[in-house]
Amino acid sequence: MHFDFSVLAAPERYKLMAAAITPRPIAWVTTVSVDGIRNAAPYSFFNMMGSEPPLVAIGMMRRPDGTHKDSARNVIDTREFVVNLVAEHDAAAMNFTCIDAPPEYDELAHAGIAVTPSLAIAPPRIASAPVAMECRVLETFDKGATTVVLGEVLHFHIEEALVDPARLHVDTLAMNLVARMHGAGWYTRSTDLFQLERPSFAAEADATKALPTR
Ligand SMILES: Cc1cc2nc3c(=O)[nH]c(=O)nc-3n(C[C@H](O)[C@H](O)[C@H](O)COP(=O)(O)O)c2cc1C
Repeated sequence: MHFDFSVLAAPERYKLMAAAITPRPIAWVTTVSVDGIRNAAPYSFFNMMGSEPPLVAIGMMRRPDGTHKDSARNVIDTREFVVNLVAEHDAAAMNFTCIDAPPEYDELAHAGIAVTPSLAIAPPRIASAPVAMECRVLETFDKGATTVVLGEVLHFHIEEALVDPARLHVDTLAMNLVARMHGAGWYTRSTDLFQLERPSFAAEADATKALPTR
């Protein structure tokens, strides 16, 4: 079966893509408006794009009335945001912050979420997040109903017990991160793992040479 996206409506395309492109990491984005009002909201159209520069990308869709969501408005206006990663212990609080509240509503205060000041930017980071990345906007662009945000990571905060500072080894499993799955409210843990070795062309060529020829 195939679907020609040129004849589907946006909500139908969303249904297919969002249920198939899974699991998605969640950026729990903290921002501050030009009026100094704090905002927090989860965004799962999110990933790392590279490390030179250290780049993250987030897709922020517009509201049904065509206006920017608060996070997008704040990011465009102030060019600063924090990406907090979501551990299972923060899942309920993260979910609360997706509430469709007006801009003057401070989700962090209403959910009782503790924050810590950032080093280089105004938006605070979430204290209970195992990892928080202070980001400066490199570029935002609007494509249809989506604002794509490209941010450069300025500071990477990680809970001390989760990293070996000499080898820069992160204890990924101990972070207990959750990711977005399908439908209205499904999430997954990162506990069902398997490993694959990366192939090397040199090793592959050697193995081919060793085969008997006819
Ligand atoms: C786990 C999760 C992931 C989400 N991901 C996105 C996303 O990638 N893009 C988006 O526009 N909205 C996403 N949403 C919905 C926003 O969080 C929601 O619209 C929220 O009210 C936006 O808040 P803001 O106006 O304070 O920025 C997501 C919601 C949840 C619960």
